[in-house]
Amino acid sequence: MLKTFIQLLGGHAPAARRYLLMTVLYGVFSGLTISTLAPVMLHLLNNEMPAASAWLAALAAGMALCWAWRRRVEQAGIGLAVAVLQGGRQHLGAHVAQLPLGWFTPDNSARLGHVITQGTMAVAQLPAHVLTPLISGSIIPLVLLVTLFALHPPLALVALMALPLLVAVLLFSTRLGRRADHRFQQHFAATSQRMVEFAQAQSVLRAFNGDGGGTRLLAQSLEQQRNSGMGLIIRASLAALLNSWAVQATFAALLLAAGLWLGDLAGDPAEGAVAVIVALVLVCRFIDPLQDVASHVEILRGAHGQLQEIERILAATPLPEPTLPLQPLDGAIDLHGVSLRYSAAGPDVLRGVNLHIPAGSMTAIIGASGSGKTSLMHLIARFFDATQGRVQIGGVDVRKMTRASLTDSISQVLQDTWLFQGSIADNIRIGKPDASDAEVLQAVRMAGLTGTLERLPEGLATAVGEGGARLSGGERQRVTIARALIRQAPVLLVDEATAALDAENQAVIAQTLHSLRGRCTRVVIAHQLDTVAMADHIVVLEDGQVVEQGTPAALRASGGRYARFLEQRRTASGWRIAAAQAEQP
Ligand SMILES: Nc1ncnc2c1ncn2[C@@H]1O[C@H](COP(=O)(O)OP(=O)(O)OP(=O)(O)O)[C@@H](O)[C@H]1O
Ligand SMILES: [Mg+2]
Repeated sequence: MLKTFIQLLGGHAPAARRYLLMTVLYGVFSGLTISTLAPVMLHLLNNEMPAASAWLAALAAGMALCWAWRRRVEQAGIGLAVAVLQGGRQHLGAHVAQLPLGWFTPDNSARLGHVITQGTMAVAQLPAHVLTPLISGSIIPLVLLVTLFALHPPLALVALMALPLLVAVLLFSTRLGRRADHRFQQHFAATSQRMVEFAQAQSVLRAFNGDGGGTRLLAQSLEQQRNSGMGLIIRASLAALLNSWAVQATFAALLLAAGLWLGDLAGDPAEGAVAVIVALVLVCRFIDPLQDVASHVEILRGAHGQLQEIERILAATPLPEPTLPLQPLDGAIDLHGVSLRYSAAGPDVLRGVNLHIPAGSMTAIIGASGSGKTSLMHLIARFFDATQGRVQIGGVDVRKMTRASLTDSISQVLQDTWLFQGSIADNIRIGKPDASDAEVLQAVRMAGLTGTLERLPEGLATAVGEGGARLSGGERQRVTIARALIRQAPVLLVDEATAALDAENQAVIAQTLHSLRGRCTRVVIAHQLDTVAMADHIVVLEDGQVVEQGTPAALRASGGRYARFLEQRRTASGWRIAAAQAEQP
């Protein structure tokens, strides 16, 4: 836990050590200052005024010092809290940016969101509000114990014996809430995920679930969260009550012991009684900081749960970076005996794939849904590492390239088009932030977006809405194509949408892909005949294996799977034309 906390602090670890040292010193100062109460009272009760005044002055000076020191400790704590909030979020962001895409399941994404918003906040309040009373509250009683021993050893012995019991109760109470806390965090993250899903998938939910059915999954999740929240509240209250009882019980035991000694001294109320009375005052001061510890320990436990969640995210292994990175020579792509399995127990979704894609050429990948086309593309872009075999770009294994050089080499149009909130121009510039207006306009033209922009009153400045919701599926797709084209990377990977584009735009994009011949290597997962026909080379995937490859002419002549694919597409488009004619009056 401490390791994770230090990781979140990043470069601020020395400041954290300084803060801890200052807090420990504050505890010692405070303990010593409270201890001066003993000589003050002893001298007062024995009527030794000059000595009492001297100790009183020491007490006042100690209190002033403690007050000033505490302010410095608190400032240092707040500084650390800010460092955790800023540095911690950056550290988590940088870490997850290196994780393989497979890590981003809906569950993990929801946990990440939860940890970044709530978790870092809970951890940041530790140095700001919790650690100072916890640390000083543990040290002050220890210092007072030493003074008590000097003053009244038997009473000090009772206090000493109570300490391990108190620690045991505190540990027990933290264990009491830990599991409930974990369950609550899980349900909280799941509910956040369901909320977002509920908002984003409204059209699907309304289409399929009618009256209120769409809220069922969200309602279930909310119910689980409510139950685990109740469980956590009950256990946390029980733990707080237990801690408070333990401290009160210690206090009662000390009072009882002091009472017994006073009773014993009843016949001879000389020096002994004074010591017991002064010791009793110290006992009161001994209990106060323990109360503080008892009330803050629950917050510490909550933050501990969040730190464990953060630890779990940081423990996910990033794709390894090479120690001696290499630069690709050109845009050629080679796959040698590549197999991929998403999980150890899962099936091979790609099996023994061998491919050579020359630089500057265009390759179309075709195959049934689930045959492994997107997975193959993801391996080239190193979203995952191959389970077996190797993927090379420009003669260099992708695992030997730095992430930056791989990113520079590849431009992609993904199957799931995703636009960020902002204008169309902003979204295109994600591909190349420093692109000139002329470059943006050229990418727009090549992606077949010119007509669309002319129809939009605000043109390139049109806001796309969340996830691109204000654009049609085809328009979204073309913005992502413009975003990929503007980068002018040596390799362009396109996971074509099956039905988002109309024939006219499809032809524009096919023409654009064709026009990049010699300038960049294009690998296109193709569903449209226009695109497939433009390819220099066609690869047919079936059940994770390359079952056919060659030029379009050769494959058409061979009468194999590609020939059947052509036939199916022709029949499908023929059916569409026939249907359209039938609808005409
Ligand atoms: N992240 C993942 N985790 C586990 N299995 C996956 C993952 N992504 C894909 N698969 C599985 O791998 C297989 C190949 O999927 P892939 O997405 O590569 O197919 P595809 O050929 O692109 O299909 P489509 O034409 O429908 O896009 C499928 O059985 C799919 O269920
Ligand atoms: Mg796919």
